[in-house]
Amino acid sequence: MQRSILILGGTAEARALAGKLAGDPRFTVELSLAGRTRAPAEQPVPVRVGGFGGAGGLAAYLRQKDVSILIDATHPYAAQISRNAAKAAEVSGIPLVALRRSPWLRQPGDRWIEVESVADAVNALGKAPRKAFLTLGRQELLPFEAAPQYAYLVRSVDPVEPPLAVPNAVYLTARGPFEQADEARLLRDHGIEAIVAKNSGGPASYGKIAAARDLGIDVILIRRPDLPDVPSVETVQEMLAWLDHAPVPLK
Ligand SMILES: NC(=O)c1ccc[n+]([C@@H]2O[C@H](COP(=O)([O-])OP(=O)(O)OC[C@H]3O[C@@H](n4cnc5c(N)ncnc54)[C@H](OP(=O)(O)O)[C@@H]3O)[C@@H](O)[C@H]2O)c1
Repeated sequence: MQRSILILGGTAEARALAGKLAGDPRFTVELSLAGRTRAPAEQPVPVRVGGFGGAGGLAAYLRQKDVSILIDATHPYAAQISRNAAKAAEVSGIPLVALRRSPWLRQPGDRWIEVESVADAVNALGKAPRKAFLTLGRQELLPFEAAPQYAYLVRSVDPVEPPLAVPNAVYLTARGPFEQADEARLLRDHGIEAIVAKNSGGPASYGKIAAARDLGIDVILIRRPDLPDVPSVETVQEMLAWLDHAPVPLK
């Protein structure tokens, strides 16, 4: 009997996993996206888009679609959906496994300042005017309006609309992966003195971290949120191995 998998996605890993499972006769697979980006990347399996209406809504969806395995392959900073997934799995008795990339670890030469929130990142930029490269989601940029003395280079997947109410900001739209050499060129060309980023982990956005190390640039990293304690793996390969031995649903 085929088992039905729901992948909560929005990451490169979720897409790669879906690609590996597409066509596997043991499973039917659906991928769920939050709908944050206007033109999401093509996905190799059927996709549904938008919130479920909290943990209860997700649990109802799991039952309605007769899902046998729930995979949380969301971004490490998307903590709410991960909490909802844990709760929905608990109430529905459907096995949940998370695919969570490990965070980047500080290397010799890194000039990292770790902070709890975007507001703390603004404070960590210091008093003197500086040129900062912001690689945060466009919904997270508003706190920088409190610091109009800095010049900003902002990179996001979708345009920042409306733009920030600061006098000096340049906007780039781009989707990773980003190579170290290109990132180094960007940092030099724009005279960047500090980067504000999330500790996303994985190779796709590590180029700026490695380039900053080489160039002696400060990196203000927003700490990862706490995530629920559920069975988890770190790579697509490990997830495929887990699925080979996945438990049958308890329903
Ligand atoms: N979501 C992404 O694809 C994504 C990708 C890259 C980075 N991030 C980063 O993660 C942080 C929080 O982002 P966020 O607001 O998207 O996450 P979130 O705070 O964990 O989720 C907020 C709500 O969005 C809905 N949602 C999130 N992911 C979903 C999915 N895969 N399928 C269906 N619904 C989903 C859920 O709505 P309901 O409660 O209504 O179900 C959830 O409660 C930000 O820093 C963002 O930049 C997110």
